[in-house]
Amino acid sequence: MICAAMLAGGIGSRLKQGIPKQFVKINNKPILVHSVEKYLNVKDFDKIIVSSPKSCIDKTKRLMEQYFPHNDKIVVIEGGLTRNGTILNSIQYMKNQNCEKDSILVTHDASRIFVSEKIIEDSIKYAIETGAASAAVPAIDVIFESKEEGKLTDIPLRKHLCHAQTPQSFNIDEFLEIYEDLSDDEIDKLDEAMMLFHLRDRDVKLFPGDPGNFKITRPFDITLAESIFKS
Ligand code: CTP
Repeated sequence: MICAAMLAGGIGSRLKQGIPKQFVKINNKPILVHSVEKYLNVKDFDKIIVSSPKSCIDKTKRLMEQYFPHNDKIVVIEGGLTRNGTILNSIQYMKNQNCEKDSILVTHDASRIFVSEKIIEDSIKYAIETGAASAAVPAIDVIFESKEEGKLTDIPLRKHLCHAQTPQSFNIDEFLEIYEDLSDDEIDKLDEAMMLFHLRDRDVKLFPGDPGNFKITRPFDITLAESIFKS
């Protein structure tokens, strides 16, 4: 089984629009609808698992029905308390469907609405080959480490740095095997899926993402996204 987890279990507080960001409209269409459309264009998926904060489940279901009527590829589930909690709920959904061993989950931040089909397809291919794979782009700016407010504590070499994007995809049985082995402390520190594979020295394939595959996070990103549609 190959599924997509459309991550919209959070509300995106940095966008400051007064509503959870997955419902903010870009080019007259909610962010979540843009991303689901992109994933529906890739034929490999058995299901697209759309997550939602508990308080928005009904609204999310109505939205999916409005834009993709009677589409049985789309399911809406409740997100978790953290991003990884939402990913775990998506894996649980697949297990409840009796998916076969070594099934693949492709996780995607719903606010990366400009993801290309090629990046999604690459991510499936590399997750099957390696077990875990993430899109990434080289760092453009120098990145300062600042462990103390207002103080420079390190300057990692830029040529070794890149920005993680989604899709991030992996074999769900490998994910669960590692997750069950983690201490509570390690689980606390997890803020993304690839960190889990890295903690147990598993290979994670990095493949080219795209600067256009940015996450709509701050108000400026709305202006940027709208201008891309106008250009
Ligand atoms: N996410 C999720 N479940 C959570 C928390 C986050 O599915 N419990 C999703 C978000 O909906 C988002 C993605 O994970 O699509 C990335 O989340 P994150 O990077 O933490 O947040 P931002 O989208 O950057 O938003 P902000 O930090 O401004 O809240």
